[in-house]
Amino acid sequence: MINQEITVGIVGAGTMGTGIAQVAATNGHQVYVYDAFQEQLKKAEAGLQSILARQVEKGRMSQEEVDQILGRIQFVDNITMFGECGLVIEAVIEKPEIKKDVFARLEGIVKRDCILASNTSSLSIASISSALKRPERFIGVHFFNPAPLMKLVEIIPGIATNPDVAETTKALIKSWGKIIVTSKDAPGFIVNRVARPFYGEALRILEEGVADVATIDWAMKEIGGFRMGPFELMDLIGHDVNYEVTSSVFKEFYYDPRFKPSFTQKRLVEAGWLGRKTKRGFYDYREGAPNPDPIKNKVLGTAILNRVLTMLINEACDAVFMNIATAEDVDLAMQNGVNYPKGLLAWADEIGLPKVLDSITALQNEYQEERYRPNPLLKRMVREGRKFYEKV
Ligand SMILES: NC(=O)c1ccc[n+]([C@@H]2O[C@H](COP(=O)([O-])OP(=O)(O)OC[C@H]3O[C@@H](n4cnc5c(N)ncnc54)[C@H](O)[C@@H]3O)[C@@H](O)[C@H]2O)c1
Repeated sequence: MINQEITVGIVGAGTMGTGIAQVAATNGHQVYVYDAFQEQLKKAEAGLQSILARQVEKGRMSQEEVDQILGRIQFVDNITMFGECGLVIEAVIEKPEIKKDVFARLEGIVKRDCILASNTSSLSIASISSALKRPERFIGVHFFNPAPLMKLVEIIPGIATNPDVAETTKALIKSWGKIIVTSKDAPGFIVNRVARPFYGEALRILEEGVADVATIDWAMKEIGGFRMGPFELMDLIGHDVNYEVTSSVFKEFYYDPRFKPSFTQKRLVEAGWLGRKTKRGFYDYREGAPNPDPIKNKVLGTAILNRVLTMLINEACDAVFMNIATAEDVDLAMQNGVNYPKGLLAWADEIGLPKVLDSITALQNEYQEERYRPNPLLKRMVREGRKFYEKV
């Protein structure tokens, strides 16, 4: 069967479900979008129409293309329509019981060879698969927000996933122009695991009083080349969401101190200062509110960047060390899932692995905390004089 002949079903017409539906329809698939709430279906349909209308206004798409895309998507309030789907992607709220219930119902409706996938960000694929009679056709496909713009999709085969299902899913989503990386079914998959120090170490630097938020953001952007600073980004993501991801990764790693959440962020959540959406977070977004200017000190800025980057690289090494993903996939994931200016491991090669090891060892000596333990793979590679990307 050629790819476009596969009908795609989406369960959950929220931010992610609607975005993924747009991607599938843009790539020629017939798409069904189901949501348990009628008003959400209406909202999603209207929202998609206006997003696409804007594309026409900006000259990025023709009206004909938009009509074709919309013509391929049916918003339905009856999940029994999913009988003809070859792939169903679930994007309902992040509640395990609700996801399990969706899959148990779907299994009684879809064809035997229909692939069932979840867009979960934080639940294990194994835990959701326990609701299925045939978990071998179940897999994680983790899109990033906004799905039509973000190139990355993490593919997460679970303990029971048939390798052929994984290959078919990868080929299909790759044919949608996405960059595919494969992750083990481990907490945070690749991006939400490796990115933790971007927030956590920046918060720690703030808590120690080394610099204020504006200066840390300035250092990461101006000296590091990151598109957004950690505090601006946390304000954009929302502290409720970001704190929840950190807490969940911390818990799932059996409270490894590397992932310890920050009480400074917890206080913002408790106060309801969730970031841009509530107009207050680390910055003040109310009309005319003053915000501090960064201290543009190159020496201080470089020290801040080096500390956060060292911790990010150490975490990227751990993902390779623990066989979560290949070095290439870790780099692709961070560049395309969170727009890092370089792959962290390629960056480590560029800095020099001995220098990175020296930096993290200095942090460990200074603080005597488990959080700063150098990754064994980093130590081993330095000992053996290796690089992540050896020139052949
Ligand atoms: N928002 C993100 O940045 C992001 C990124 C990657 C992955 N995810 C994951 O994608 C999933 C959806 O997230 P979202 O941000 O689109 O959430 P959302 O709240 O925007 O949408 C969830 C939708 O699920 C619907 N729903 C609830 N219960 C349902 C049921 N029983 N049957 C059918 N529909 C039901 C809701 O009506 C809502 O429309 C979650 O698992 C989330 O973790 C989110």
